[in-house]
Amino acid sequence: MSAQIIDGKALAAATKAEAAAEAAVLKAKGIEPCLAVILVGENPASQVYVRGKVKDCGECGIKSLELRMPETTTQEELLAKIAELAADKTVNGILVQLPLPKQIDEHAVIDAIPPEKDVDGFSPVNVGRMQTGQPCFLPCTPAGCIRMIESTGTKIDGKNAVVIGRSNIVGKPAALLLLAKNATVTVCHSHTANLKEICANADILVAAVGRAGFVTGDMVKPGAVVIDVGINRGADGKLHGDVNFEEASAVAGYITPVPGGVGPMTRAMLMKNTTQAAAMQNGVAI
Ligand code: GUN
Repeated sequence: MSAQIIDGKALAAATKAEAAAEAAVLKAKGIEPCLAVILVGENPASQVYVRGKVKDCGECGIKSLELRMPETTTQEELLAKIAELAADKTVNGILVQLPLPKQIDEHAVIDAIPPEKDVDGFSPVNVGRMQTGQPCFLPCTPAGCIRMIESTGTKIDGKNAVVIGRSNIVGKPAALLLLAKNATVTVCHSHTANLKEICANADILVAAVGRAGFVTGDMVKPGAVVIDVGINRGADGKLHGDVNFEEASAVAGYITPVPGGVGPMTRAMLMKNTTQAAAMQNGVAI
């Protein structure tokens, strides 16, 4: 193996320490930052993610409200809950864990979260603000990816960056953030021709495909920074990334592990967004 591991746990700990310091400043001013997390249904992966978010809040001195609603929840019921939290001045961030049960329209739900409480950065207002370079909540996973890339000392400016995957949560915003930092960005997806050649030209490769081991060693440019966003539960019960770690780490310059890479960093960025939300809503600088 030649690649250096980007330690997501250590970076997340440093980022959470920033959030904890901000939460302490807010508390000294009588403001208790608070994140409401709504989980609809019993999706096992979502339950794990929500538990992690609540745990991180505790570590950062952020109050959390874990709101569980049954799988049979109607859209109206969920929208009513969001409206209640939107009107509650003691709640600074509202996060609805995705995916949602079939009977609920995800877009309608995200639209209902006030942009100033949208700590996921998923609402159309925040997406539009990000796209036009205005201040906004950045989506946690892509923002965490950028921090991880920059932690290596790699300058993004002028680099070839390739993002595999075009989801609204990761692929598209990751491409926009890399573009904002002056990378030359290519977004690849299931219809992309010459995927291997395109990836092999990437100085920065972000894999957000959702298929275990999709990125093989021959798709990695020697010395590249490889960010693996995938979290795939294998038949062995273990978590696997989208990148074949053994192969890619023999070629890359830097690589994120799974687990212990992008996942912890995503949650840490959520803590930062929550303290920012609390500060902004109370007109306080932190
Ligand atoms: N499901 C998978 N990733 C995320 C995320 O970052 N936020 C929310 N709300 N749901 C998710």
